[in-house]
Amino acid sequence: QVKHVAVLVGSLRKESINRKIALALAKLAPSSIKLDIVEIGDLPLYSEDIDVTPPAAYTTFRNRIKAADAVLFVTPEYNRSVPAALKNALDVGSRPYGQSAWSGKPGAVVSASPGAIGGFGANHHLRQSLVFLNIPCMQQPEAYISNAGAIFEESGELTEKTKTFLQSFVNAYADWVLFQTRPQK
Ligand code: FNR
Repeated sequence: QVKHVAVLVGSLRKESINRKIALALAKLAPSSIKLDIVEIGDLPLYSEDIDVTPPAAYTTFRNRIKAADAVLFVTPEYNRSVPAALKNALDVGSRPYGQSAWSGKPGAVVSASPGAIGGFGANHHLRQSLVFLNIPCMQQPEAYISNAGAIFEESGELTEKTKTFLQSFVNAYADWVLFQTRPQK
């Protein structure tokens, strides 16, 4: 049975490199998993006050995460950390208290930056939250995609080197998802 993966992209911009990487991963994914982007750009900034009567955007988002078997984060780094939109989505999904949508969903993190260190800071700050949210996160391979302005050819195709890497990454992630969601005795 195919496992459904909710993909969260940490950038809201139309031409986002990270979104393109997420779409490339969806194409490269083996048939055991299906990747779909869950949008986070319309989630109001989290406040317990507005959550007394949850906005429709919160409810829809929480239901989509709950319906997924696994989660995959593809994100840029903002000021050496997680973009606010992505952190907000984590916060929204974590509430109401005791009803987190995240718990137990196998995850993985991809970070990408046109800079030289591949969003390492965002990648690891994000992992800190994933520990608390009880998202078992794939450890290896890690994915810090540096010089990400150069990973697409003019045609829009990934360069061979990046494609090979992303293929091995998504194959390992599929194995991780299947292992983490295996039937328990
Ligand atoms: C950035 N950028 C950035 N890059 C980086 O490697 N480390 C950083 O700390 C930051 N900080 C940062 C803050 C803010 C507010 C913005 C808007 C950008 C640059 C960033 O990596 C670049 O814009 C990427 O292209 C963003 O990813 P998307 O939108 O292409 O997916």
